[in-house]
Amino acid sequence: MTSRSSQRKRVLSGMRSTGKLHLGNFVGALDNWVRMQDQYDCFFFVADWHALTTDYADTSKIKENSLEVLLDWLAAGLDPECCTMFIQSHVPQHAELHLLFSMITPLGWLERVPTYKEQRENISEKDLGTYGFLGYPVLQAADILIYKGDFVPVGEDQVPHVELTREIARRFNMFYTRKGIFVFPEPQPLLTPAAKLPGTDGRKMSKSYGNTILLTDPEPVVRQKLKTMVTDPARVRRSDPGNPDVCPVGDLHKIFSDRQTIMKVDEGCRSAGIGCIECKGWAADALVSILNPMQERRKKYEDNPRLAWDILEAGSSRASKVAGATMDEVREAMGMSLDYDEKHG
Ligand code: TRP
Ligand code: SF4
Repeated sequence: MTSRSSQRKRVLSGMRSTGKLHLGNFVGALDNWVRMQDQYDCFFFVADWHALTTDYADTSKIKENSLEVLLDWLAAGLDPECCTMFIQSHVPQHAELHLLFSMITPLGWLERVPTYKEQRENISEKDLGTYGFLGYPVLQAADILIYKGDFVPVGEDQVPHVELTREIARRFNMFYTRKGIFVFPEPQPLLTPAAKLPGTDGRKMSKSYGNTILLTDPEPVVRQKLKTMVTDPARVRRSDPGNPDVCPVGDLHKIFSDRQTIMKVDEGCRSAGIGCIECKGWAADALVSILNPMQERRKKYEDNPRLAWDILEAGSSRASKVAGATMDEVREAMGMSLDYDEKHG
């Protein structure tokens, strides 16, 4: 690593290996990561162990899903020359730190985590009454702290996990100081400004709702999905005026269209001067112009997935070095270093 990169603040974030990414993942995280890679010393990883906490029963797709995520990262413009990309399970030190953290994390802290309660209540088709699922945020704390990250870019739902990470860091530092020095700094969450991105049914875009537009969707598919997208329900006939502020297509324009188009939509919709079909066509144009260059970039790696895999392997070995150095400090602070020592043998 160059001296310049080691002076930069460190950013760490992960995404579960859920397969192909959609526009919501792009707007909510990936786009932000791409902008950060020049400014910070960034570590981005595919959290395949975290995917296992809910999808443990069938692992047949897990590797393929990890690769799809990486391809979308590369497509969106993450550059292996500018950031470190890796797979969680290829850096087993995360698991060692997770185990040590599990010793010091009170159960009550985990039972109070909002995502834990919500998912236990809402997901009925899988048995989430497992040790691993409860420990999800402990693993996340290990992911973050093992790189001594300064900043963790996340969406709002993940902020409690970063808070818990800070508490675990404090508790570890309290029990085990190393020559009077704390092993772990407390990372800060960097809240990704959340643009409200609706899916085709008007609810939040999410894989589990089946309302997504994928980064890999070809132009005809994007146009077709837009055609069936819900609009302002008050605008029933072409002659009814509408309101782009309550229309999911209007939201898409606000995020992806240029100022001129947004004004044209606003005026045309409110005066019934334009039809929804025309308006959706413009929204599709904006999406296609963003997705096209991504799909071009992705093609190079799709044709040769080995290239993408090599990027992950190189990233994983770079990450291992950093993680390994932290684990040496951790073991030493806990009086469990691997070296022979005179007193205790
Ligand atoms: N829990 C995160 C999510 O579902 C993914 C994740 C795993 C993560 N480890 C992380 C995010 C570490 C930030 C830092 O989106
Ligand atoms: Fe929505 Fe556009 Fe139709 Fe207005 S014209 S209701 S913004 S799709």
